[in-house]
Amino acid sequence: MNAARLGFVGLGYITVNAHLPPLAVLAEKGHVTLQAFCDADGGTAASQARTFGANAVYTDHREMFDKEDLDGVYICIPPTLHTDAELIAAEKRIPVMVEKPQTLDIAQAVRFSEAISKSGVPSQVGFMSRYYTTAEFLRDRVSERTPRHALVQLLYSGGHIRYWTSRFELCGGSFVENTIHMVDLLRFFLGDITEVSAFYHYRKPGEGPDPINLPHVYDVNYRFESGVVASVTTSRVLTNVNSSRREVLVVCDDSLMEWSAERVVENGETVFEPTYADNPFAIQAREFVKAIRSGDASGLRNGYPQALNSLAAVLGANASASEGGALIRLDDFVSGTVGARDRVHANAGAAPGAS
Ligand SMILES: NC(=O)c1ccc[n+]([C@@H]2O[C@H](COP(=O)([O-])OP(=O)(O)OC[C@H]3O[C@@H](n4cnc5c(N)ncnc54)[C@H](O)[C@@H]3O)[C@@H](O)[C@H]2O)c1
Repeated sequence: MNAARLGFVGLGYITVNAHLPPLAVLAEKGHVTLQAFCDADGGTAASQARTFGANAVYTDHREMFDKEDLDGVYICIPPTLHTDAELIAAEKRIPVMVEKPQTLDIAQAVRFSEAISKSGVPSQVGFMSRYYTTAEFLRDRVSERTPRHALVQLLYSGGHIRYWTSRFELCGGSFVENTIHMVDLLRFFLGDITEVSAFYHYRKPGEGPDPINLPHVYDVNYRFESGVVASVTTSRVLTNVNSSRREVLVVCDDSLMEWSAERVVENGETVFEPTYADNPFAIQAREFVKAIRSGDASGLRNGYPQALNSLAAVLGANASASEGGALIRLDDFVSGTVGARDRVHANAGAAPGAS
């Protein structure tokens, strides 16, 4: 079987630290070729090409797609910078792996999703938490129970490592940029989300520390297709203390399950603790490469069209909060009939009506 020739759009933090290390292992085994590195910053593309031994370097993905014969492409750029790489890949029938959040513009995500569906090629969105063995265990156990309720508490501490993740208009806020992983995980456990209503505690204009303009708190309620309801709370208030919390609870009849990457606890007892913790990014990479090389896409847990519901759930939360907690049906939000679609970009994290 030939090595899969891979192209990369965006050679920043996540590509270099999470995707390329396991792919470099697959390259050593002859399963992939790191064919083309494209970054808007030519120096970054060139230096990462030297580090990982890529064959070609580009600063424009259109030129890369024109000149290279690729079997798969990783698109890992900040969410407001997506233009047409997904559409070109779909047109050329090249499988894509796109980092989350896919974009901040739900209409653009729908266009990409339709093109990828039409092309029929395998796709993946970077919701790697689905590949934790603990996630798989909890999903299977939930299927044997009657779930009613889920709770997520993410109380982040510390600062932001990149400028764009500190700005609402560039990252969509912490709920979109970070909590989307846990929202997607709830979907892995419980199925699709139908409705959202959200209250945010917005940062007042000028309230520091600069340059952050993100809401302090995101309080979001979901209803799932199954009738299960969930409450997902996120805050970015603990900046200068080393204290944080990450809790994911699924409450079923007579069963309180707690998920973490390391273990699953049911009614106070550890019921699953993996002896060997495989890196979820490595599993995600192996499954993507397997889908490309053998056509067996059964290991892909998060195709672009399937992942649209997770994106709609977090962008829909922003839209609901900007309308004072209005109930939003995700079908309507995705079709564009409700939901402050334009304000998702325009609302720079300030309270509705605040100047
Ligand atoms: N799965 C995870 O756990 C995880 C973790 C971190 C980031 N991410 C996601 O990965 C994506 C990228 O984040 P990052 O942390 O790597 O960002 P980053 O800012 O570190 O890197 C982005 C890179 O993309 C390049 N770039 C921007 N526009 C480009 C374009 N049009 N063509 C080519 N290159 C372009 C930039 O020059 C930069 O090198 C984001 O969507 C982010 O949310 C996911």
